[in-house]
Amino acid sequence: SQTWLIVPAAGQGRRMGASKPKQYLTLSGQPILAHTLKRLHGAFPSARLVLCLDNDDHWFAPDWVPFAHWQRVSGGSERMDSVLNALHAMEAQDDDIVMVHDVARPCITHGDLLALYRAAANHPGGALLAMPVADTMKRGNDQGLSVRTESRDGLWHALTPQGFRYALLRRALETARRQNTVVTDEASAVEALGESPQLVSGRRDNLKITHPDDLALATAIIASQAL
Ligand code: C5P
Repeated sequence: SQTWLIVPAAGQGRRMGASKPKQYLTLSGQPILAHTLKRLHGAFPSARLVLCLDNDDHWFAPDWVPFAHWQRVSGGSERMDSVLNALHAMEAQDDDIVMVHDVARPCITHGDLLALYRAAANHPGGALLAMPVADTMKRGNDQGLSVRTESRDGLWHALTPQGFRYALLRRALETARRQNTVVTDEASAVEALGESPQLVSGRRDNLKITHPDDLALATAIIASQAL
């Protein structure tokens, strides 16, 4: 059986306020997209990559792809549409493991990638990297007032990658689309089918680059990580 990686990279990254999509901003001399693909390739050198890119993407260069087997697919209007395009384009077997990883998470480590893969292969509901919530959680109202403190017991931050068998992931996202539900990660769609993905405790430095400040932080993280 094959191992697949889907990398959604068709977002605009508007919250960065930059002149190009955030995956093309430079981090330690290389675009974020190149860092992310290099880390994925380090852990899974023989995996097949499906890269979701916007049709109007003028910045992408194939030189940044270290994989021998890869294909490009068009992005959709939401992240889940981009991932569905990938699932429909790839020629996978039902029980192949498919991991989805945001291009905006270049600090992902080898150790976390292998731990996630093992859990995805061993659990019928698949698996996701996640982090227990450390802060006290407040419920705010529309005037920005704190009206309640929510229990953080059992609350996790959902990270990527998330991994599932191909047939389950495809059925989950197709069901979500049919029901007009927009999901922001794969696990949400799988949960809606009544399956329970395994939470795999991941590193705290698996940062998602979202805001301008995150670039300096990601540069420091990458410099500090001994891979
Ligand atoms: O913008 P945000 O960081 O939440 O997007 C998460 C990931 O989904 C990014 O890697 C982004 O490129 C991707 N995406 C996509 N297609 C969209 C929207 C976002 O591939 N339509």
